[in-house]
Amino acid sequence: MKPADYKATLSFSNGSASVELPVYQGTIGPDVIDIRKLYAQTGMFTYDPGFLSTASCRSAITYIDGDKGELLYRGYPIEQLATQCDFMETCYLLLYGELPNAKDKQNFTRLVTMHTMVNEQMQFFLRGFMRSAHPMAVMTGLVGALSAFYHDSTDINNPKHREIAAIRLIAKLPTLVAMAYKYSVGQPYIYPRNDLSYAGNFLHMMFATPCEEYKVSPVLERAMDRIFILHADHEQNASTSTVRLCGSSGTNPFAAIAAGVACLWGPAHGGANEAALNMLYDLQKAGGVAKIGEFIKQVKDKNSNVKLMGFGHRVYKNYDPRAKLMQQTCNEVLDELGLHNDPLFALAKALEKIALEDDYFVSRKLYPNVDFYSGIVQRAIGIPVSLFTAVFALARTTGWIAQLDEMIGDAEYKIARPRQLFVGTPQRDVKPIAQR
Ligand code: SDX
Repeated sequence: MKPADYKATLSFSNGSASVELPVYQGTIGPDVIDIRKLYAQTGMFTYDPGFLSTASCRSAITYIDGDKGELLYRGYPIEQLATQCDFMETCYLLLYGELPNAKDKQNFTRLVTMHTMVNEQMQFFLRGFMRSAHPMAVMTGLVGALSAFYHDSTDINNPKHREIAAIRLIAKLPTLVAMAYKYSVGQPYIYPRNDLSYAGNFLHMMFATPCEEYKVSPVLERAMDRIFILHADHEQNASTSTVRLCGSSGTNPFAAIAAGVACLWGPAHGGANEAALNMLYDLQKAGGVAKIGEFIKQVKDKNSNVKLMGFGHRVYKNYDPRAKLMQQTCNEVLDELGLHNDPLFALAKALEKIALEDDYFVSRKLYPNVDFYSGIVQRAIGIPVSLFTAVFALARTTGWIAQLDEMIGDAEYKIARPRQLFVGTPQRDVKPIAQR
C-alpha cells in the first residue's frame, strides 16, 4: 500500500492513549482510514454491522457516486456503455481494464463462443430437481457443480486457470440458465449456436424448440444485451462481497461464484426484481392505479413489513442511473411488441410518480433501483418471473469474476475473517444433568 496521504488521530475519553491512523485517498470517492493495526495498537475492534462505513478492499473496477447517481465501469459512465457498446465489450472492459479494439473484441467473443457448451453430464444434475424447483436453487447447484468438470482450472492462484475459468463461467452461464428454464417447462434443451451473438444465443436457447426455426428479434437481442450490461458489476455489493470472501479461502472460482449466486437470490438484493414484479401483479389484482394510495399507506406502516420492492438502495441516494436506462429499454421493447399500453408498465410508472412525490420516500431518498423496471422488460421478452434473478446472476458473473481476479491479484489480500462484539454469557461450568 502506498504511504499515508495524511493521518487521523483517535483519542479516548477514558484516558486511554490516543493512536494515529494512516488515511489514504483514492482516485475519486471517500478517503479511507486504515485500521489494520488498530487491534494491535488498542486491543479494540471497529464495529460496523452491514459495513455501511467500511471499505473491504481497494478496487479499480467499478465506482458508484450514490449522491450524484453515477455508475462507472473502469471509468466509463454506464449511460455511454449501455448505448455505445455491447455486453462482450463490457465483459472485456471489466476483466482487462480497457475497451477492446475490433480485433480484440472479435478474438474475445470467439473465445467465449467456443466455451458455451456444458458437459453432457450436467443434464443429470437437473434431473435431480423437481420441475417446479426455483431456478435459483437449480443455478446454485449447477454453478457449484461446474467445479467437478474443470480440474484443469481450479487453482485460483494460477492466473491462467483464473482466466480460463472466467471465460468458461461467462460462456456457460447463459447455457445453464436456459437449461434451467427448459427443464422447468418440460421442453428439450437447445444447444448453443456459434453463429449467434451472446444475447441472441441466450434468447435462442431459451425460446427455440426443435419443431421450427426461431428468429432472434434484433430489438429483443439489443434489450437483452443492455440488461446484461446494466447488471454486469456494481462495486462491493452483497453478492460480490460474498464472492470475494468465499474466494479468499483459496477455493476454486466456480465454488466462489456459486456462493455469489446464493447471496444474490435474496429479496433485498438480486431477488428484488422478481419481488418487484410480483408486487405489481398483486397491486394490479387488488385494483391497479386506484389502489396505489392504499398500498403506499401500507408501505409506510412499519408494522406491515411491506416494502416498495425495486425502490431504495444502500448507496444510491439519488436516482439509480440503471433504472432510467431500464425504463428506456422498457419503452423500446413494449413499443416493438405493440405492448406500449401494457397495464403493468403503466402501473409501475404511476407508482413511481406517486412515490417520488411522497415525502416518506423523498425524505428517505428512496428512488427506483435497477430492479424496478427490469422485471417488466424481461416479462415482455417472455422470461418467466422466477427466472429474473437467474438472468441477473448470468450478467453479474462477469463482475464477480473480475472482482475475484482483482482480489487474488492483490498482494495484500488475506483470507477474510471478521471479528465481533461478544455480548453472550461469560465462561461458566457445566453442571451434571441432574442439577440443571
Ligand atoms: C440490488 O448493493 C448493490 O449495489 C445492490 C445492487 C447491485 O447491483 O448489486 O444494486 C442490486 O440489490 C438493488 C436493491 C434491490 N432491493 C430492493 O429493491 C428491495 C427493497 N429495498 C430495500 O430492501 C432497501 O432499500 C435496501 C435493502 C435496498 C437498502 O436498504 P438500506 O440501505 O439498509 O436502507 P434501510 O433499510 O436502512 O432503509 C432506510 C429507511 C428505513 O426507514 P426508517 O427506518 O428510516 O424509517 O428507508 C426505508 C427503511 O424502512 N426503506 C424502505 C425501502 N427501502 C428502505 N421503505 C419502503 N420500501 C423500500 N423499498
